[in-house]
Amino acid sequence: MDYTSFFNKDLLPKHIAIIMDGNGRWAKNHNKPRIFGHKNGVLSVRDVVEGAGEIGLNYLTLYAFSTENWNRPKVEITALMQLLVNTISKEVKSLNDSNVRLLAIGDLQSLPGNCEKEMLKAIEKTKNNTGLTLVLALSYSSKWEIVQAVKKLAADVKNNQLDINNINETVFKNYLQTHDIPDPELLIRTSGESRISNFLLWQIAYSELYFTEKLWPDFRKEDLFKAIGDFQQRERRFGLTSEQL
Ligand code: IPE
Ligand code: IPE
Ligand code: MG
Repeated sequence: MDYTSFFNKDLLPKHIAIIMDGNGRWAKNHNKPRIFGHKNGVLSVRDVVEGAGEIGLNYLTLYAFSTENWNRPKVEITALMQLLVNTISKEVKSLNDSNVRLLAIGDLQSLPGNCEKEMLKAIEKTKNNTGLTLVLALSYSSKWEIVQAVKKLAADVKNNQLDINNINETVFKNYLQTHDIPDPELLIRTSGESRISNFLLWQIAYSELYFTEKLWPDFRKEDLFKAIGDFQQRERRFGLTSEQL
């Protein structure tokens, strides 16, 4: 596909994060149970990951399941976890074929045993790939991540591994699960909701936000390319004036 009509390939963001929202409403529009929406959402994930690989994106983070999502009806959670296990084990081969390295953020230990196992297996099997890094946020919430970081940091202070006077933003960032991942330059949310829902609060401090009405199961790589084009039109000032840039 000629994606150069969408954006300038020399000015790609390094990292794009996506809040994949709207599966349930999509299913409802099709008079189907919510899980039908989640299943079709997997097709979007496949297409978007493929597109990200094609254009040479370095990092793509997908918000797949939040800490708050544990409060959904049990049938939906069980079906989602089953879908996750099946998808991960099915996709490992194609991730390897396209040189994608898989990572995860979130409280993996809170996932059902087989989910955690499949994830760790897939991460291990893809760890030497050098193309796109695909980060799945699973049982993730940003406040949880930040509190975990604070606990580790406090323990290091207590053990005299860290001097309080040396704590700064760079030091703090190293305690986050995302410490090896650059901050996303672009954050996309589908389904028309304009909120962050506890996703990457620290990391998106200066991200460009892009909201689209499209429901996640309708989102395709062309929509990703369109968002990148939109991103490239923006002036990122980081507190400076236009004239200073
Ligand atoms: C996003 O779609 C997927 C998850 C949160 C797991 P939703 O399931 O939130 O779909 P809506 O927002 O109810 O339409
Ligand atoms: C955010 O979607 C979480 C994920 C996409 C995994 P939600 O559908 O859970 O968010 P809210 O509750 O509408 O804010
Ligand atoms: Mg939702």
